[in-house]
Amino acid sequence: MRNDWSGTTFPHPAGRRPVAGDAFGADPDAPLQSTMRRAADLGPIFELKIFDQKFVFVTGAELAAELADESRFEKSLSPALIALREFVGAGLFTAYNDETNWSLAHDLLRPAFTKSSMQRYHPVMLAAAQELFDNWDQLGGPVDVSADMTKLTMETISRTAFSHDFGSFSRTEPHPFILAMIAALKAGQRKGSLNSMPGAALLAKRIDKKNAHHQAYVDSLIDGIIAERRISGASDSMIAGDNQDLLGIMLNTPHPETGARLDDLNIRHQILTFLVAGHETTSGALSFALYYLTREPAMMAKAQVEVDAILGSDPDTEPTFGQVAKFRYLRRVLDESLRLWPTAPAFTRSPREETMIGGKHLMRPQDWAIVILPMVHRDKEVWGEDAEEFNPDRFLPENSRGRMTHTYKPFGTGERSCIGRQFALHEAILVLARMLHRYDLTPDPAYELEIAERLTLMPRGFGLTITPRRPDPAASAGQLESEICPDSSIAQPGFQATSQRWPSGSAK
Ligand code: HEM
Repeated sequence: MRNDWSGTTFPHPAGRRPVAGDAFGADPDAPLQSTMRRAADLGPIFELKIFDQKFVFVTGAELAAELADESRFEKSLSPALIALREFVGAGLFTAYNDETNWSLAHDLLRPAFTKSSMQRYHPVMLAAAQELFDNWDQLGGPVDVSADMTKLTMETISRTAFSHDFGSFSRTEPHPFILAMIAALKAGQRKGSLNSMPGAALLAKRIDKKNAHHQAYVDSLIDGIIAERRISGASDSMIAGDNQDLLGIMLNTPHPETGARLDDLNIRHQILTFLVAGHETTSGALSFALYYLTREPAMMAKAQVEVDAILGSDPDTEPTFGQVAKFRYLRRVLDESLRLWPTAPAFTRSPREETMIGGKHLMRPQDWAIVILPMVHRDKEVWGEDAEEFNPDRFLPENSRGRMTHTYKPFGTGERSCIGRQFALHEAILVLARMLHRYDLTPDPAYELEIAERLTLMPRGFGLTITPRRPDPAASAGQLESEICPDSSIAQPGFQATSQRWPSGSAK
């Protein structure tokens, strides 16, 4: 048995079969949601046995907080991440902790997420949003929110990080790169889920064969971007000198202490990683936020009061870099959306040394547990009896005070937590602010939330009708500070004043 936890048996769903274990009952198209349903009555830690692979899941906030203790635990690669690694290689997300490429890439790329780098990305983010709005203004009518948010976040990450334009807004169909990437990700996901079944090796070979042309297309497109940059050198302001984008840093910068550089293959893996990790997560967060806001008119009104007060009466006004931190209600809306539906919904932890967790379960370095965030984030012990309800004001400072630490982790935990956290928050707030300022958004009253699962979570088939809006700052006069933002110290995506770096952890 793989991941056998020294033979410990945790609670598991009824109906376990002798060979297949708990395989029946899992939904291959919605593995997370089916696991959540099956886990409902199994307590804070449970297991699923799929043939000879044991999966141990943590859903209780207290155990999740214990696993966040970096002195005792570290990131581990689940079978799903090992499968993803076949596609994106040893990029930051899928690297093993002790791989030298991880620390090298981490040290080199961290400066690309400082405040001054973010200030350079700000106009690029605004321009991408404007392109989407130009499109909407031409088309009018209902829009496919998740699809359009995905186009937007894809363009944003690729233009800011690699100065590459996929031209998503001038196409009716997604760029072939996106389709190939999705196909390759799906192939990886299928391989990961088949992994423990009898005959898995043969099935994996077949999947690889079917997927080979997608992988080849993705690899060659990225190698083309790298080659183009080597030829064009450093002529563009987003590329040159101190203003280098991520690709420029990877190509031109040696490690300040060791002088080591990333090799070309690893650069390809990092680009792919940033494209994969840096867009669907944010577009899902935006889509969930829009879903909840548009079904709660009082919350939408509050959000519009905030955007009108900050941006004024002209719907074409773009927020300045400094203003983005002022949309405190929007930030709470995002925080709450990521509580209920953290779009990267799980991460995996192993102990550094043999230890007991929960005071009673022996866990060795080869054992791992998957933390299921949407369940941890709904633990009533921490979030109260109304944990399933959407309520952004949970994140007001007076309501957050005293909440158990390390129980809200949409961006992961510790040294391997999300390097793009502030990038994502800045982008998402900026886009939400502009959208709510510029448009009235009407949902289809018959729509019921359905969640698509790929690597990330995303509302499926969620449309909104958009109509131009006339902002009304007069209506919000006097309300902003007193009613919406009673504590001006909260939700400032604060910088450490001395180093001008974004805070690295995501602990709350
Ligand atoms: C709302 C948006 C986002 C969410 C919810 C999110 C969530 C996460 C989570 C949970 C992890 C840790 C995974 C683990 O422990 O296995 C992670 C890691 C990572 N994320 Fe994000 N992410 C978001 C946006 C972004 C963006 C915009 C970028 C790039 C600009 C990015 C790049 C990365 C990378 C490179 C890692 C791996 C870090 C490492 O291990 O060193 N993410 N993210």
